[in-house]
Amino acid sequence: MKILLAGGAGYIGSHIALALLENGQDVVVMDNFDNSSPEAIMRVEEMTGQTVSLYEADVTNKKVTLAVFKKEKPDCVIHLAGLKAVGESIEQPIRYYRNNIDTTLTLLECMAKTGCKNIVFSSSATVYGEENAAPCHEKMPKGKCSNPYGWTKSMMEQILQDASVADKDMSVVLLRYFNPIGAHESGRIGENPRGIPNNLMPYVTQVAVGKRDKLTIFGDDYDTPDGTCLRDYIHIMDLAEGHLKAVDFCVENKGTEIINLGTGQPYSVLDIVKTFEKVNNIQVPYEIGPRRGGDLPAVYADVSKAEKVLGWKAKRTLADMCRDSWNWQKNNPEGYE
Ligand code: UD1
Repeated sequence: MKILLAGGAGYIGSHIALALLENGQDVVVMDNFDNSSPEAIMRVEEMTGQTVSLYEADVTNKKVTLAVFKKEKPDCVIHLAGLKAVGESIEQPIRYYRNNIDTTLTLLECMAKTGCKNIVFSSSATVYGEENAAPCHEKMPKGKCSNPYGWTKSMMEQILQDASVADKDMSVVLLRYFNPIGAHESGRIGENPRGIPNNLMPYVTQVAVGKRDKLTIFGDDYDTPDGTCLRDYIHIMDLAEGHLKAVDFCVENKGTEIINLGTGQPYSVLDIVKTFEKVNNIQVPYEIGPRRGGDLPAVYADVSKAEKVLGWKAKRTLADMCRDSWNWQKNNPEGYE
């Protein structure tokens, strides 16, 4: 099978590309390298001894995207193209709506024009909003998102779902990711955020490597066992393997299916810091700061559907996630530069 990864050179895409190649699939990557690096794909090629058809192209450019579809004729698309910084989305909502909705519409138009019927979408647990108490189940109605980034995910889900209602031959799989962290076990590819990290794990690793003085834990007065927020952290390679199953499911079925990708096991911010320190034998200085606006006390998945529908279950532990995140960071202190 040939899989087109739209926005495939980023943190999540590069790990999926690796997993697909290792499973004998052909991989095409389109990426504008806005928040990613061609070096990630070069390393994937080096690690697998296989080649990726790589296009430096913006998925919002319909002419170029259509040319890629016509040339490559993918069997399935994995849609990972989009802007993803929560804070930035509050400052620049129009840019976020324009870019993220545009990538989705362009991909759907190019699919329709070339007869590609299968798409797996990189969605987020953020679409459950604050109305739904954890564990989040796919049957719950979507909630009110706390930022424009989240709304783009929610809207893109709706657009994809509507497209599959109109075209009965289409198959859409909406994967709702919880909190992907970690890196490939080799330490050759990993998360390489631009500027100051917004997310917890890259911040922790940058403190550990000495790039930042200390971590600020956003609030320790939540109604949780240790007062810090609970999240469902999932190893990036487990997430990538979930995509292999999702692609198989996508090409064999029709209509829309929503599937959570998490472990179902909540851990607190302090659990992350303590586990990271223990497995890597390194200190992570931290202070307790005020709560961050929009954070919810507990977000974790009900993972029974993924197991039932995809036959997939995350198998790596929190210790694995902390070890592999650190292995990547310490071997690549400047990321891909
Ligand atoms: C956030 C987004 C989510 C997005 C995901 C991945 C919100 C409400 N949600 O999830 O939509 O899909 O990132 O990009 O923004 N923390 C600290 N100190 C830090 C950083 C984080 O204490 O410096 C805490 C947070 O308060 C939170 C936990 O660590 O409790 C995880 O934070 P983060 O990695 O940013 O992920 P989410 O907020 O869960």
